[in-house]
This record gives sequence, C-alpha cells and structure tokens, in this order.
Amino acid sequence: MHCIKKISDNLLWVGANDRRLAMFEGVYSVPKGVSYNAYLLLDEKTALFDTVDKAVQGRFMENLAEGLGGRKLDYLILQHIEPDHSYAVEAVAAKYPDVTLVLSAKAWDFVSQFFNLGDVKRIIVKEGDDLSLGTYKLHFVMAPMVHWPEVMVTYEEKTKTLFSADAFGSFGALNGAIFADEINFERDYFDEARRYYTNIVGKYGPQVQALLNKAQGLTIEMICPLHGFVWRKNLGEIIKPYTLWSKYEPEEQGVMIAYASVYGNTENAAEILASRLWEAGIRTVMFDVSVTPASEIISAAFKWSHLVFASTTYNAGVFVTMEALIYDLAAHNIQNRTVGVIENGSWAATSGKLMKDKLAACRGMRFVGETLSIKSSVKEEKLDELNTLAKAIVDSFKVDERP
Ligand code: FEO
Repeated sequence: MHCIKKISDNLLWVGANDRRLAMFEGVYSVPKGVSYNAYLLLDEKTALFDTVDKAVQGRFMENLAEGLGGRKLDYLILQHIEPDHSYAVEAVAAKYPDVTLVLSAKAWDFVSQFFNLGDVKRIIVKEGDDLSLGTYKLHFVMAPMVHWPEVMVTYEEKTKTLFSADAFGSFGALNGAIFADEINFERDYFDEARRYYTNIVGKYGPQVQALLNKAQGLTIEMICPLHGFVWRKNLGEIIKPYTLWSKYEPEEQGVMIAYASVYGNTENAAEILASRLWEAGIRTVMFDVSVTPASEIISAAFKWSHLVFASTTYNAGVFVTMEALIYDLAAHNIQNRTVGVIENGSWAATSGKLMKDKLAACRGMRFVGETLSIKSSVKEEKLDELNTLAKAIVDSFKVDERP
C-alpha cells in the first residue's frame, strides 16, 4: 500500500525507507535504517525528482502512482545516478513511456552504463538551464563530485526549494516524520548526519564548498535531500555544520583517541593518557578500532580538534584495523588536526613511524609531542613520558580554545 507524505502544496514525498539494509554501499552500517527520498511536483507538467534503491522499488512505484493520481509523468529529473537513487529508472520508463529524462550529459553517460533504456526521451541540461512546469520553474545547478561527477541540484524559484541530491542528507529512516523540525534532530540524528556526510562526501570538501558558494546566491526556504529529513525551518542547523565539515574544521575542541590493542597494553597506555587529559580539563573520547565501525571513528575524527592514534606493531607494520582506519581517514581527506602517536612493539616497534608517515601526507596535520614508544606493556618508568605527552597535548590547545 502506498505511503506518501505532503511536503507543501503540489509537492509530495514518494520515496521509501529501508530498515533491513545491513551495510549501506556495502560498507556503512545503518542501524537506524536509511530513507531513499524521491519527490513529485505536480503542476501543468508533472516532475519526479530521482527514484530509489532496488530494495524499495515496489513501495516507491505504488507511491508514485498514488501521487500522480492517474496523471501521466512528464519529467524525471535525475540529479544523481548512483543506483540508490536511480535504480527504478527502468521501471519508471516502462510504466510511463512518455516520460522525458532531464539530466546532465555525464548523468546520461552513467544511465547508459547502468541501465538499458532504449531511445527514451531526454533533455540534457547544463549549469543555469531552466525548465518551466507551468507555475513552477526549475533552475539546474551543477554540483560535480557531491558525490559523483554527474551530480546536479535543482532550485525551484516559486517555492524557493532546493532539491539538493546527496547534500544535506542523513542516515536514518524516516519514522513517520518527514521534516527535521518535527523531530529532535540534534539529539537523535545529528551524529548520523555527520557520519553520512563525512563518510559519503567527506573526501570532496572543496566541491561541497563550491556548491555552498553557489547556494549563497539563492534564497532557500526549503531543502529536499535524497536521504533523511526535509528542512523547512532553521536551515542553518544543517548548513553551518556542512560549512565546517567541508573546510575540515573541527566542531569541538577535545581529543579523540583511537587505539588498536591485542592484549590490552596499548589500550592501557591510551586510557592513562585519556585520564591525564580529563584531569587537565580536556574532553576526550576513545575508540577501540577493532570494535567500533570505522565510519563512526571517521565521523568523530571530523568532529574533534585533536586526534591520538595508539597501535601495536603487527607483522612488522601497523595493526590491521588501525592500518585500515588510517588509510580510510587519509582517503577521506582528513585535514587540519593536531595529532599524537603512541606505538607498542615487543621487539621492533614500527607502527608509530608508519602511522605518522601516512598522516603526515594529509594536509595541515600538526604532530604534538614525541611518539610514545612502549615495549609490550606500560611500566612505571614510562609514566613520565605519558605525562609529558599529555602535557604537550594540553599545551597545544590555545588557552581560549580549551574545552
Ligand atoms: Fe545516496 Fe551518492 O548516493
């Protein structure tokens, strides 16, 4: 049975939720599920913004039919061809054969690569092109690499609505609500919005900045993203953090400690350090990288100003889960952080240098203190060095930035 939501006069949400998906994109856990948003704008012409993932195509097609109420579908605006938004394009084209696809040239390339649509009607649009639906007028804005190269967003002039593709989205299914102001977004979804942004789009900060700059030239009263909630109030709640994240500036002053420990001794060093930092009034969070999903740690690394990595040496390298994390952080373009390093090695510690080398290649990383090297376990004589590292980290906070 259909389940559609009214966004505003003539604008309907016709997407669907998936709460059974184990791993989004095969790599990100989504314990709160995920929504695939599609929007239907009814005017003299009808326009559908994007489709949904394969898993929820059935519900989406019911929703689309209900939303159209027997009318034909004139346009399918394809803003992003990643299959979580485009999979149902074949089903839509089959059911509504008169539909005209509206998409960028690169998007058409990708549609042709993924799907078999034959000689479907299409309009290729570029930056600044317009399309009138009657009362409503669509204005297309290219947003390459937010999150793929073909991406565009769409601004509807009359309602001042930005259809923002992946931008301003969030993990988490829509549990009956559709607007961010209907729920406690800060408490219940903000962390998921950061985890979504940093892991999905985090690598492309400059491109997100470019989109934010273009958006500054528009008066935006509503944002309709392809995942998560629609924003119609307090848009700054989602735009401001995007500004920070895309500039790789921390949200909070404090220390994230990520550690990889085989027998608990590297963890012990990390805990002593965390304890010293708390005693000095510095907020600290800790993650065991072998337990916490990498996507949560990447999100935290974008949140906090200072990062400490502590790893045992393993197979003459960095412990496998820490190596994967650091590789992932570098791939996501983490920048502008103050970094401390702890290594452990029973006979030939290498993990500190290897972690440092990888992190040094990231822009704007400032190392604090010497690499603390322990052999097997923390001994009494190492406490002075631990205290010295803690003091160096505390001192690295500017006085007015201390949490
Ligand atoms: Fe939700 Fe880049 O797709």
